Amino acid sequence: MAEKIYNFSAGPAVLPTPVLEKARDEMFSFGGCGMSVMEISHRSKQFEGVLAAAENGIRELLAVPDNYRILFLQGGATLQFSMVPINYMAGRSADYVITGAWGKKALKEAKRCGTPNVIYTSAENGFRSVPDPEELKFEPDAAYLHYTSNETIEGVEFKYEIDTAGQVPVVCDASSNILSKPLDIAKYALIYAGAQKNIGPSGVTLVIIRDDMVAKVPENQHSMLDYRVQVENDSMLNTPNTWGIYIISLVCEWLRGKGGLVEMEKLNEEKAAILYNAIDSSDGFYTGHADRDCRSLMNVTFRLPSEDLEKQFAAEATALGLDGLKGHRSVGGIRASIYNAFPREGVVALVDFMQDFARRNG
Ligand SMILES: Cc1ncc(COP(=O)(O)O)c(C=O)c1O
Repeated sequence: MAEKIYNFSAGPAVLPTPVLEKARDEMFSFGGCGMSVMEISHRSKQFEGVLAAAENGIRELLAVPDNYRILFLQGGATLQFSMVPINYMAGRSADYVITGAWGKKALKEAKRCGTPNVIYTSAENGFRSVPDPEELKFEPDAAYLHYTSNETIEGVEFKYEIDTAGQVPVVCDASSNILSKPLDIAKYALIYAGAQKNIGPSGVTLVIIRDDMVAKVPENQHSMLDYRVQVENDSMLNTPNTWGIYIISLVCEWLRGKGGLVEMEKLNEEKAAILYNAIDSSDGFYTGHADRDCRSLMNVTFRLPSEDLEKQFAAEATALGLDGLKGHRSVGGIRASIYNAFPREGVVALVDFMQDFARRNG
């Protein structure tokens, strides 16, 4: 096994080492019960404690107000692309802000339920930008406004939270930047995120939903797709991803120990700045994909002068233990995902390699 791998994967992604160590230590006997978390009933007292720890952890870290419920669902963020319109569109329109590939996928599902209205898209410029707040003219009758706070593939991130001043419920796919910085949850009607970047392992989807949105769900939905039923059953309508929820509880504990999201944001800004500075000071050898004002702190995307050089870059980096840098197959280039658990030393190691590579090939 390689001594040290820096895992730049976009997700599933690097988890904090102390979380993996604790999970290892508790693997055979969770809390001394003689069984693994994976082996105990989701109805057991022990698991009730795990679920409560995960829920409370998220509530505390994000300062979730009391009028919001926290759910741990399955089906990934992708199921939320459908669940949101199934629960709220019902033949109405909804506003969609499209800043990348994931927003496009959400829009595709919404079209099955009604008439989504694209109020902004950066498709023409290859998804490099986000709108200025004043550019967004939302439709007051819209069932909701949907946006993606960080587009993982293009590396494009909103630096502000969309605020409709309560006129239209805001729904946000925050899969790839949730827990990277504090959020004002009160601005949202519903936030969802696949866990496999900043929250835990794949197979769990975090949903934070305001009480009035729970109340708005029409009768007679399919139970698994019904937010109200999921809330009434405290995420346990069926057997939940017990292991995933357990890891989330450990990630929350780790984040608390790190000083919470204010500290995390500082570290994330620092890490991203090291990398963007390397891109900007490369005399054009590396070019960033996203516009400067919406560069993602989580997914740093850039190109090299040719696709051949990009292939060579990714291959040489992998050989040095810098893993997972190849850009998404749909856009190519290089993508360095540097989520909360990604260490600063790994960013420095990448920059050292980038400088050396540019010297040899520039
Ligand atoms: C922003 C965003 N939305 C949605 C998804 C889809 O998530 P899942 O694979 O959990 O369905 C991803 C996955 O990477 C993502 O980055």
